[in-house]
Amino acid sequence: MKKILNRPMLAIVATVIGFSPAVAQVVAQDDRELIKLPVKQQNLLLAEMRGLLETVDDMLGALAQGDMKKVKYIADYRLGFGHARFKKMLESGIPESQVEKLRLEMLKRRKSGGGHGGGYGSGQGSGHGAGQGGRGGGFGQGVGRFMPPEVRQLGRAMHESAGKISITVSKIKGEPTAQDYKAILADLQALTSTCRACHVSYKVR
Ligand code: HEC
Repeated sequence: MKKILNRPMLAIVATVIGFSPAVAQVVAQDDRELIKLPVKQQNLLLAEMRGLLETVDDMLGALAQGDMKKVKYIADYRLGFGHARFKKMLESGIPESQVEKLRLEMLKRRKSGGGHGGGYGSGQGSGHGAGQGGRGGGFGQGVGRFMPPEVRQLGRAMHESAGKISITVSKIKGEPTAQDYKAILADLQALTSTCRACHVSYKVR
């Protein structure tokens, strides 16, 4: 059978819809590794991802307003290690001071090298037991266990760079200077680089 869209035709179509053939070729090429997930976990992951973009957007908003307290809060409670668990705790009515105490304890444990994993991702349970041990997967709701180790590592790197933002912000004394903004932006870019690193290598569909 004669092909309707031969090469020159494709080039014309591609040009008409606004791509040069070269660009069309780049777009069509997809070397990302497929992570196979059950539908439920796939949807959870994508929802979590959309949430991450909102979080980064909120952080940029807070930064633009010079609201460093909010920047730090977002880093600690929406991006850092254990954030899913903290959120659940706050939602279940546990006072903020208690959650913050747990967060700091986990931070200390991680720094001293003990209790690796600090309870990121809360599996399917509700995250009891202060997150000792357990190399959770970082996506909560059981997505983590489907993830290859390299992907989990990238997830950890993301949480790690959120922790770096938090530390940088906590060092600011008084009004933030241009230098402070630069430092936070550098940390924030380190964070978005982890998004990017994962996205260039993996897909779920
Ligand atoms: C550990 C790996 C990993 C990290 C880190 C990561 N992502 Fe993703 N993200 C994925 C995967 C896998 C997909 C699905 C891509 C696909 O199948 O096409 C995805 C998809 C998305 C999507 C599309 C969601 C949808 O509904 O289609 C957005 C938005 C997104 N990520 C934002 C982010 C942001 C922002 C960050 C960093 C703050 C981030 N991601 C970090 C792995 C990651």
